[in-house]
Amino acid sequence: MPYPEIRPRRLRRNAAVRRLVSETRVDPAELVLPMFVKEGLTEPRAVASLPGVLQHSRDSLRKAAVEAVQAGVGGIMLFGVPTRKDETGSGGIDPDGILNVAIRDVIAEVGDATVVMSDLCLDEFTSHGHCGLLTPDGAVDNDATLEAYARMAVAQADAGVHMVGPSGMMDGQVGVVRRALDAAGHQDVSVLAYAVKYASAFFGPFRDAVESALEGDRRAYQQDPANLRESLREVELDVAEGADLVMVKPALPYLDVVSAVRAAVDVPVAAYQVSGEYATVEAAAANGWIDRERVMLETLTSIRRAGAQIILTYWAVEAAQLLRQRY
Ligand code: PBG
Repeated sequence: MPYPEIRPRRLRRNAAVRRLVSETRVDPAELVLPMFVKEGLTEPRAVASLPGVLQHSRDSLRKAAVEAVQAGVGGIMLFGVPTRKDETGSGGIDPDGILNVAIRDVIAEVGDATVVMSDLCLDEFTSHGHCGLLTPDGAVDNDATLEAYARMAVAQADAGVHMVGPSGMMDGQVGVVRRALDAAGHQDVSVLAYAVKYASAFFGPFRDAVESALEGDRRAYQQDPANLRESLREVELDVAEGADLVMVKPALPYLDVVSAVRAAVDVPVAAYQVSGEYATVEAAAANGWIDRERVMLETLTSIRRAGAQIILTYWAVEAAQLLRQRY
């Protein structure tokens, strides 16, 4: 031993020392639970590719929202699954559409006890499955889509949501949503911008959960996984347009992006541990190949360590319960 006095292992010798020197703690208050609600269901229904995740009925959604609050999660993010999809995704704007109705239900149930967020995107509501309106030749029309997002934002805010999450990756979406909210008197509703969103194969199981009709892909609006600097540009634009928080998505395959975004801006940074990240761990654990709980907490710790202050995860409730016991 050339330097006998330097022994890093002294700080790892038992659980008490390790706890004392731990640099990163995941707090339940920083976890957000994504939840699905499907129009017309009387009982919740399992999503085959997302074991443990449900398509809720309106009723079971309210109950699950209460459970999430009791577990201490910081927020819930709502996604609606309509029975009927159409060309323009009108169900997302209709005040009686499933997502807007579910926002009202959840707000009536939990009020301000947690932060209630809603996905602001058309893909769950369109018959073609794209995140925006199409031109006659089938391309996604950026500016026509912005008008739809503005109306959708106001409908969600009218339903009482605390925070909207524009996720369609249209240019200018944050500015348009912010202005529409302000013009409708919803200055208090904040914008969680999906600023960085890659055209990721990790979204696969989510598309089952929302019964997406998409054929083809989203590469003309979501980002190329090869690019990092482009993400900094996206984040800078969203902050300039009025984003209150910015999000990176997916999380684990993009920790370098999370870290670069954290260094670039002062607004809170969130990361979305998406469906495919969850499903791959669940599948390996179901085969007995990995220790499910340890891997779950290790992934959350790593996302937190990379610089995400807030994590959207399908494990939010379970992780919150485990973390409570731990600290
Ligand atoms: C778009 C949206 C998607 C996800 C969240 N918001 C799907 C997509 O862009 O294709 C994916 C989340 C996940 O995979 O868990 N409304």
